[in-house]
Amino acid sequence: MSMTPLAAIAGAIWLSFTPIYDEDEVPEYTLPDPLVTEGGEPVTSPELWRETRRPEIVALFEEHVYGRWLPDPEHLRFEVVDDEPEALDGAATRRQVVIHFTEEDDRPSVELLVYLPNDVEGPAPMFLYLSFWGNHSVHEDPGIRLSQRWMRGHGQGVEDNRATDASRGSRAANVPVEMILERGYGLATFYYGDAALDDADRYREYVLSLFQDVDEERGPDDAGAIGAWAWALSRALDYLETDADADDERTAVLGHSRLGKTSLWAGAMDERFAIVISHNSGCGGAALSRRRFGERVSRINDSFPHWFCHNFREYNGREDALPVDQHMLIALAAPRAAYVASATEDLWADPRGEFLAAYHAGPVFDLLGESPLPVDDMPEPGVAAHGTVGFHLRDGGHAILEEDWAHYLDFADMHYGR
Ligand code: GCU
Repeated sequence: MSMTPLAAIAGAIWLSFTPIYDEDEVPEYTLPDPLVTEGGEPVTSPELWRETRRPEIVALFEEHVYGRWLPDPEHLRFEVVDDEPEALDGAATRRQVVIHFTEEDDRPSVELLVYLPNDVEGPAPMFLYLSFWGNHSVHEDPGIRLSQRWMRGHGQGVEDNRATDASRGSRAANVPVEMILERGYGLATFYYGDAALDDADRYREYVLSLFQDVDEERGPDDAGAIGAWAWALSRALDYLETDADADDERTAVLGHSRLGKTSLWAGAMDERFAIVISHNSGCGGAALSRRRFGERVSRINDSFPHWFCHNFREYNGREDALPVDQHMLIALAAPRAAYVASATEDLWADPRGEFLAAYHAGPVFDLLGESPLPVDDMPEPGVAAHGTVGFHLRDGGHAILEEDWAHYLDFADMHYGR
């Protein structure tokens, strides 16, 4: 019996929302070629990439996925509210800096925590890490100022949406501060909710309110929360440029999950970042949308309508119509270094799709004289593949752990020739 048109439409909608978890069900797809211009011209030189193709790809991601990059702030001010030369038993200098985006103190700002290794001669290479739970969650150090901002509960020492002392160090397992310092690197971190609340009703209260009329609906290519978080990462780098103890020219930008989507976008748009790291970023991050494995475009737009630009919704169930796929986002890091990390049990984020995106970014790195991923197949868990593009798959679930950081530190050492 043939299907009624209504049943066919219902079936197509159902299919566009149902996650695929079986490799055999991944549909055939053709990726857009990062090395062919929109006019059909093959990109055969670094100049053509830089002058034509790269700007085209940036514009496509802005228009169809993340929204337009926000302009630089008119008034950027850095207020150093803490400068402790003997933090963490003398291992580090701790600085806390309020980054103000306007001349008024009560307007949107981000509070940056910086640890600099005391044992290092000259400015330290840095990891800029965006956090889910506030600066005080990354270490028990009582000198870290407790975030005063709205926060979700979820048993992280947050009551009535305010962090309490109980949340100090609640995410220390995700950020091995001592290990980073011992390896000669500094850490800078801030709470993503300082820039934009991760809430579909309130996400425009902070950074986006500086640039958008929040009483009007967002325009089709206006930035959403990911755009605001990524923009704030650039402002943190603006601060690092002024700190003589931090090496702003050797700064890696790093985030986990939705914040991995964010670090990829920040690293694509702000070419001052030397290394761009996506950790378990999945759909809308490192994973290829066309594979439709795990979380897919329709689902992410439905669950998180505030993350991407509204145009991205045009691709719900129509992934093949996207003029880009996520390998092209990774390619925007070139010729700088890019790293993608996945976890075996993190199927929602499509580990294979993340690997393949890193792999298919390769030709752009190659064209620019940099090494693509040095493997053709996804490496075994625990075995890192490090070219100018890096990848590892960790055994286990959706999280950032010390083992992951060990790979990032090795990768940075290799990249900086340390
Ligand atoms: C959800 C979401 C993912 C996201 C993740 C996270 O699972 O569907 O896209 O990466 O949250 O940020 O932890």
